[in-house]
Amino acid sequence: MVSVALRSVSKVWDETVALKALDLDVHEGEFLVLLGPSGCGKSTTMRIIAGLESATSGQVLLDGQDVTNQPPRDRNVAMVFQNYALYPHMTVEENIGYPLRIAGVRKPDRAAHIRKAAERVDLLDLLRRRPKQLSGGQRQRVALARALVRDPSVFLLDEPLSNLDAKLRVAMRAEIKHLQRQLGVTTIYVTHDQIEAMTLADRVVVMNKGEMQQIGTPDDIYDDAENLFVAGFIGSPPMNFIEGAVEAGTFASDGVRVQGAPGHDGSVTLGFRAEDARLADGTGMIAGHVFDVEPTGDATLIVVQIGSNRATFRADKRTRPTIGDPIAFDVPPGEVRYFDTATGQRIRA
Ligand SMILES: Nc1ncnc2c1ncn2[C@@H]1O[C@H](COP(=O)(O)OP(=O)(O)O)[C@@H](O)[C@H]1O
Ligand SMILES: [Mg+2]
Repeated sequence: MVSVALRSVSKVWDETVALKALDLDVHEGEFLVLLGPSGCGKSTTMRIIAGLESATSGQVLLDGQDVTNQPPRDRNVAMVFQNYALYPHMTVEENIGYPLRIAGVRKPDRAAHIRKAAERVDLLDLLRRRPKQLSGGQRQRVALARALVRDPSVFLLDEPLSNLDAKLRVAMRAEIKHLQRQLGVTTIYVTHDQIEAMTLADRVVVMNKGEMQQIGTPDDIYDDAENLFVAGFIGSPPMNFIEGAVEAGTFASDGVRVQGAPGHDGSVTLGFRAEDARLADGTGMIAGHVFDVEPTGDATLIVVQIGSNRATFRADKRTRPTIGDPIAFDVPPGEVRYFDTATGQRIRA
């Protein structure tokens, strides 16, 4: 098992700054997920680790060794891409064996490795087929087997499930996680899907505009966001935000009054999650009018207009308030988050 480290890695293309001095330590055997919106620098980070792209500045270390100037073939890092990049004219067997062929392994010696990799992803029956005779999920398995065939010390997966339909994505997610645990190989996985990130990762790195916003376990990221970007990116529905002001320890906004606000006076955004709010009878901490009622099957999401803000509350599935009616909620003080509206940074007690 191998650790991966980035030391102040930057990447600039002409005018575009894709990465700004990124520092990252991926532990041996860890499943690390890079999460962020399109264009935030996830693929660039992966390509720099694989050696497919050079960093403008900074270092890449594998097990403490500086590999910044080493070509991809000397890194023993395998990468799986979103579009699988399979060779259409080759069989499954030839596709899986391709990295060995390139590395100069002779045909008789390749067979056993190919079978082992194919077996791991349940492809033994399909070795003679060509990619166009396979389903999306099977193609994805071929791409995984091709990445596994050389026993890589680091496994890089760049949005490997994006081309699959929702149901298959969930099934493949479990398989990838299972496979990673079995192999124990250090894995970096890129996605823009926060559910995928939360379910797969030992730790998640949330990125935006070429910068790391936060790194932590899925629980850390969900419960203890460092800033408005992370709080608003994670969770479905994302965290509710109410813009207001703090004066002498009281947060106030149209329809909202909360005592015990930390920090000094000024413009503050209050945050809370849909599932942490409880319906209040009569007056509550948060008062507004029902804007929309969204049954999800297991619960009811109630969208409430609160002054000029709108927030989503999760209630029991039998709760079905009338649109337009007044409604009030309480949120336990421990579940309320405060952010500096100007900088977006969390204000802690
Ligand atoms: N080859 C390239 N030439 C110029 N700009 C690029 C190139 N590759 C990526 N970029 C830019 O770098 C930024 C980060 O891209 P990328 O790492 O692909 O983001 P992500 O994978 O998070 O969607 C984007 O603004 C993108 O347009
Ligand atoms: Mg990308």
